[in-house]
Amino acid sequence: MKEPADKIADLAAKHRDRPGALLPLLHAIQDEMGYIPPESASIIASALNLSSAEVQGVITFYHYFRTEPSSIPRVEICCAESCQSMGSDKLLAHARTVCDVHPVYCLGLCASSPAMMVDEKPYARVTPEKFDSIMKKAAS
Ligand code: FES
Repeated sequence: MKEPADKIADLAAKHRDRPGALLPLLHAIQDEMGYIPPESASIIASALNLSSAEVQGVITFYHYFRTEPSSIPRVEICCAESCQSMGSDKLLAHARTVCDVHPVYCLGLCASSPAMMVDEKPYARVTPEKFDSIMKKAAS
């Protein structure tokens, strides 16, 4: 079984030659490992010829990136126009009574508003009742 640093180095080598490699690489690391381990910044910096501070700055700028492992699902609720017009404000208020929620702006499911994502899985036409059911399943 590979050590985290080896996995990060492998992913960095795979993405190194892409234009604008940093964000796709960070996504790949989080997809693979569930978060961005602390040793990532120096490995990525070396692979992409950036400073560790630049890499760390990007990791901390985007709230999407997790810097610690978590068993809590990441919940994103769309708050853009289409979803707003179909009740995302009410859904967001309800969701915030249950868990930590990240507002996002358009998940590409506008025709099926309001929309949300739980750990990258999209859900459409979400009501507060449907939200409760989704979260119950996510916790089991
Ligand atoms: S506006 Fe919510 S998915 Fe597009």
